[in-house]
Amino acid sequence: MSIPLPEPRVARFERLAYGLFLHWGLYSQMGKGEWIMHRKAIPPATYNGLKESFTAADFDARAIARMARRAGMRYITLTTRHHEGFSLYDTRGLSTFDAPHAPAGRDLVAEFVAGCRAEDIVPVFYHTTLDWQWDSAHCTEARFREYLDYLHASVEVLCTHYGPIGGLWFDGNWSRPGADWQEDRLYRLIRRLQPEAMIINNTGLDARGATGHPLIDSVTFEQDLPKPLNREGHARYVSGEMCQTMNRHWGIGANDFNYLSPAQLIQNLAACRRAGANYLLNVGPTAQGGIPDYERAALERAGDWVRLHARPLYDGQPVACTCEGRDFVLRAGDELYYVAFELGQVGLEHVTVNSGRVGPRAITGLSAEVKSAVWLDSGEELAVTQETDHQIIHCTGYPYGTDLVVRIARLHTTG
Ligand code: GLC
Repeated sequence: MSIPLPEPRVARFERLAYGLFLHWGLYSQMGKGEWIMHRKAIPPATYNGLKESFTAADFDARAIARMARRAGMRYITLTTRHHEGFSLYDTRGLSTFDAPHAPAGRDLVAEFVAGCRAEDIVPVFYHTTLDWQWDSAHCTEARFREYLDYLHASVEVLCTHYGPIGGLWFDGNWSRPGADWQEDRLYRLIRRLQPEAMIINNTGLDARGATGHPLIDSVTFEQDLPKPLNREGHARYVSGEMCQTMNRHWGIGANDFNYLSPAQLIQNLAACRRAGANYLLNVGPTAQGGIPDYERAALERAGDWVRLHARPLYDGQPVACTCEGRDFVLRAGDELYYVAFELGQVGLEHVTVNSGRVGPRAITGLSAEVKSAVWLDSGEELAVTQETDHQIIHCTGYPYGTDLVVRIARLHTTG
């Protein structure tokens, strides 16, 4: 059975590899996550008062885009409107519940796009489909259709006033299962106005990796490592993306200390690339749009690792073969790369606690014959031996003074 080739925009998206997800809205002022309105059953009349203190004084889109670039990220997906219904963009008369009508008085999406462009970062728009202002999950059929007109008009605004964007990322169809969300109409509108934009619709925690409407370009894996996608016999090539919180909240959780470490970010990014998927890592900005210190530091530290391994990470596609543990092989153009997890540290026994291991690791089923290998970070050569039905890479460990968590070697082959 044949495997379809990705359309150019999908292939481009895959090479973006690593992105920053930003959940920012009025809820950020409460510091308890983006579901607070719903969790506390706060009526819109009360909740919407948060608009009066939303100044966006600390939002510097260019500085955020610069941080993302330093972190090795190539795109940013911003919540232009989340379930609370407040828009960071100028809805141009569709509603007054938007940033230009708050003390902020600015079109924050316009700033976001300009900041991204200045730093060579691709802007992507998250947009909710679940809207608590309309009670779109539970309202009557007639009101739901009225709501869909408003939603589509909102998306049309986003598709017409900000130049070419990287994609539209929808979220919330799961809130009204079985409803006619008129996806066809929405996606055709996007295809017409933004032919190069990715169309994504988050299938949520219960349906990770599910393919939905035929115009969708990428499936989502919310908060879990992606599975390799089987595309045999499919009509179109659909990519994959894992989105994940850096702690346990999307919108800032001021008392959430449950953070991922740079080591975990590195492992997760590598694990996504093993499945050929992108990694969209979330940060919840502060009440007025600043980036919290820990998140900034963790992203930049992991970015030092990304820089050492840029070629395989961005351009590498998974290669069919069997490796030990979580190891895998990527192909970027004519080059093959071996990605090694759980390597031990070697050197001074008295000061290192070792959980990893060094030594031979087998690759089975790789069509090319590997002659030699070299670690990208140090240039150290690794011995490779051939057995009857597999090849062995003799992995050295981390010399005292280094530990890359995940290490990548370029493989020299005979073709
Ligand atoms: C879930 C949540 C939402 C969040 C999204 C991100 O669907 O409802 O708050 O924005 O996941 O993937």
